[in-house]
Amino acid sequence: AKKAVLGPLVGAVDQGTSSTRFLVFNSKTAELLSHHQVEIKQEFPREGWVEQDPKEILQSVYECIEKTCEKLGQLNIDISNIKAIGVSNQRETTVVWDKLTGEPLYNAVAAPVSPGPSVPVAVVPSGASVPAAGTSSVWLDLRTQSTVENLYKRIPGNNNFVKSKTGLPLSTYFSAVKLRWLLDNVRKVQKAVEENRALFGTIDSWLIWSLTGGVNGGVHCTDVTNASRTMLFNIHSLEWDKELCEFFGIPMEILPNVRSSSEIYGLMKAGALEGVPISGCLGDQSAALVGQMCFQDGQAKNTYGTGCFLLCNTGHKCVFSEHGLLTTVAYKLGRDKPVYYALEGSVAIAGAVIRWLRDNLGIIKSSEEIEKLAKEVGTSYGCYFVPAFSGLYAPYWEPSARGIICGLTQFTNKCHIAFAALEAVCFQTREILDAMNRDCGIPLSHLQVDGGMTSNKILMQLQADILYIPVVKPSMPETTALGAAMAAGAAEGVGVWSLEPEDLSAVTMERFEPQINAEESEIRYSTWKKAVMKSMGWVT
Ligand code: G3P
Repeated sequence: AKKAVLGPLVGAVDQGTSSTRFLVFNSKTAELLSHHQVEIKQEFPREGWVEQDPKEILQSVYECIEKTCEKLGQLNIDISNIKAIGVSNQRETTVVWDKLTGEPLYNAVAAPVSPGPSVPVAVVPSGASVPAAGTSSVWLDLRTQSTVENLYKRIPGNNNFVKSKTGLPLSTYFSAVKLRWLLDNVRKVQKAVEENRALFGTIDSWLIWSLTGGVNGGVHCTDVTNASRTMLFNIHSLEWDKELCEFFGIPMEILPNVRSSSEIYGLMKAGALEGVPISGCLGDQSAALVGQMCFQDGQAKNTYGTGCFLLCNTGHKCVFSEHGLLTTVAYKLGRDKPVYYALEGSVAIAGAVIRWLRDNLGIIKSSEEIEKLAKEVGTSYGCYFVPAFSGLYAPYWEPSARGIICGLTQFTNKCHIAFAALEAVCFQTREILDAMNRDCGIPLSHLQVDGGMTSNKILMQLQADILYIPVVKPSMPETTALGAAMAAGAAEGVGVWSLEPEDLSAVTMERFEPQINAEESEIRYSTWKKAVMKSMGWVT
């Protein structure tokens, strides 16, 4: 069959906490041509510990690339049209590996980790560097609570020392404390550091190093957005901060080079896309901000993934929150381009609550079933579910909180619990939107949304009802991948994507308007707040 004639194409890796995807877009129309997705295992070896296998993550990326290329072949699309690849990733998750062997240095603490059944080793192209199984400490992991408490006691000057440089509160969430834990507790890591063999990275660094050759010349780098989540990065000077590294006791030589979010980092070393430049890199929430075209001061988006992340572009200004939000690097789209900042409201558990209902309670078989259950009742019947599995993030930053389901009666059934789980996602979003409005002074008139959960119409309607403003969703919800593809395609030396907003003017939107009255919305929200108070102080 005749090959379809298209303009230049750009691929994007979207490596999230729950799954990995590879997607290919037409750079002229932003149309999604093909993609493949693989679910990623999460290990919970002890209460509060969350781990993933960096090797499984890498294999899933190779698998997604190979499968997507096969699908493009079936559509008669020539993969040689793919001119660049962008990477977007779950942030903060911490990997330390050996640069001589390519192996992650932290082996599973409890149950040994083996690659999931959906990741056949055969899809890894020959010549690619795939290390032995190890684990990475995932952003949700709480094991560093005592590390954080000890660090608090040593903060020089005032408590603002870390926040004023990084925009972040001292919390288990960010990479520096996870890395400190590894240095304190894992002999293999200590030894590799002593012998100058250790490399640290968030998932972007691990992937780019591996995909560009690993032990055979892999490029050890990260971008400003991912660096801004490590707690070692000075968001004003855009460099690793010597004082912070001393405070956390992190040797600076294991840190990756910090680059902009859009430039050629290196070339794919193996597989169907061998030789294609990797030229875009953004933490997933920054990528979604770019993919939603939130390039103006005051534009915001909320992404519903494993967690929920509301980011508002604050332009070239670093705005510091008075209401529990983070200040973070939004993007820097080119070596010589200016940096943009964002205020971020982070919610730890959103989609993860649905996964918990599926995997831990077994009340649904697939994530999609949640909508059917919730629809059956259309109300939680007074049941409230606070999924504080990893403590509470914004606006509370309360590590002592744990999940609760309250307001149960003999009438409550699994449908009400399913409904309450969806409502919890919406209430948590309302909390961070309120904080954002207070910090910015000008309330948002509508909320731009994206992410896997936005295909759930009940959730979207509930969200509009609880926020009491319209919720607007692009017809193509893969904005995280789109943002990474845009950054990659626009990079100097690639130049196949223009970032002018009119390029995407064809994107259609779905709108959800509030349908309940404001009083009802407020009553539900204030009862939610009562439930949140009950979840606090559960562990000491
Ligand atoms: O900060 C963590 C975040 O980047 C993870 O995103 O989409 O896996 O919830 P997601």
